[in-house]
Amino acid sequence: MSGRNLVIFDTTLRDGEQSPGASMTGEEKLRIAKALERLGVDVIEAGFAAASPGDFAAIQQIANTIKKSTICSLSRALDKDIERAAEAIKNAARPRIHTFIATSPIHMQHKLRMEPDQVVEQAIAAVKKARSLVDDVEFSCEDAGRSDIDFLCRIIEKTIDAGARTINIPDTVGYAIPEEFADRIRTLIERIPNADKAIFSVHCHNDLGLAVANSLAAVKAGAGQVECTINGLGERAGNASLEEIVMATRTRKDFLDVTCGIDTTQIVPTSKLVSSITGFQVQRNKAIVGANAFAHESGIHQDGMLKNRETYEIMRAEDVGWTTNRLTLGKLSGRNAFNARLNELGVHLEQEALNEAFVRFKTLADKKTEIFDEDLIALVNDSVAAADTYKFDALECHSVPGHKPHAVIHFSVDGCESTGEADGSGPVDATFKAIESVVESGAHLLLYSVNAVTEGTDSQGEVSVRLEHSGHIVNGSGADTDIVVASAKAYINALNLLSGTRERRHPQV
Ligand code: KIV
Ligand code: ZN
Repeated sequence: MSGRNLVIFDTTLRDGEQSPGASMTGEEKLRIAKALERLGVDVIEAGFAAASPGDFAAIQQIANTIKKSTICSLSRALDKDIERAAEAIKNAARPRIHTFIATSPIHMQHKLRMEPDQVVEQAIAAVKKARSLVDDVEFSCEDAGRSDIDFLCRIIEKTIDAGARTINIPDTVGYAIPEEFADRIRTLIERIPNADKAIFSVHCHNDLGLAVANSLAAVKAGAGQVECTINGLGERAGNASLEEIVMATRTRKDFLDVTCGIDTTQIVPTSKLVSSITGFQVQRNKAIVGANAFAHESGIHQDGMLKNRETYEIMRAEDVGWTTNRLTLGKLSGRNAFNARLNELGVHLEQEALNEAFVRFKTLADKKTEIFDEDLIALVNDSVAAADTYKFDALECHSVPGHKPHAVIHFSVDGCESTGEADGSGPVDATFKAIESVVESGAHLLLYSVNAVTEGTDSQGEVSVRLEHSGHIVNGSGADTDIVVASAKAYINALNLLSGTRERRHPQV
């Protein structure tokens, strides 16, 4: 296939995880990393190793497991961060250190409180340090979208000389406009004398809804790497969405003239996995991965489609993996078939966890005759970790006309059985109050949402509950064919995550 190669750098596990409430456990990160490898991404930014011991361990596990994609850790331009990053990725088949420092006047003056010359010196030292530990080093000029172009030329030339192989130009605050951003990339590539020694990359945030447009404009202007996330997850309004970038380059190859190694049929399964792990639901009309992305409602469209599907369809649903959510298992399926399908979905469970999941699968199969891939993913996400403080047991809920709904919840707290009960304005409200009558967590509910995992009224409801306590935000999830039970499980899951929250450094603060 002709066209320049476009490197796809996925930062779902790092920038995506910086979305408030999107934090993932190490095991969840590994599952997503495996899905990203199947998808064929070139570089997986697995996290920020210096953030916390948990982040370090997750990167290390991903580096030990993933063979095809490059595994990258972010690090500030500080020796201790860079050493931590190198240690975390040391067993990766293809390790990369991504180091960064802010280059805009506002960031240098107010955040770093450093003179531009000091920033250049620190950037050079960081790249040299990283190159002493790994061959593949990426350097980012944070807030490059608002940085002085002459200063960018100076710092980039020096960091390429110091050994950076990829130079990333982030639009950190999502301020750029496509034409202007493309001009910036083109100017840098033209003016920097050693620009041919590095790949120019872009990393666009979506504050003005322009992240994908800015990234594609930059690709047209010569960028050879795009940093993006599944479902556009990321800080604030998110990052450029991988699925939109990939499908735009594929559908408009005539214009963009680049190719990438993504297996597009893995896009929808990966999107669903990320959404169900993080609890960040995909809006129905989201391009490529939204439930309505390929639905043609109007009679005129349907008529056109029947005559020739290209009248209204520029991509085929099956090319992005919409058909893979096929009916997979039923009541009579055995443990081997169950495990084999989980493996195909990238889920590998230890014997004990598999036994436990199989029991829950049989319970689900009793309630629901057709079990789809989405059901299996929800079922696995719904598992209870042995170390969890709170474990759901049973729920009784009564809603009788003329009386306030009443809930009685049975759950265990550190192995001891507890029962809570409360009235509420509805069954879910009563259930949450019943849990809190025992736990008294002091947490604030920031978000409650229910999503049908599959079609039909026998679908499992997947509930997301976002709780905040002392500045920590967590997203709990739970699934069940009874949405009040799913809600109770999600609330309990969020409480478990809150009780396990740890101090974690943010790379950009
Ligand atoms: O948005 C940003 O500038 C970043 C950098 C750390 C690459 O995420
Ligand atoms: Zn970012």
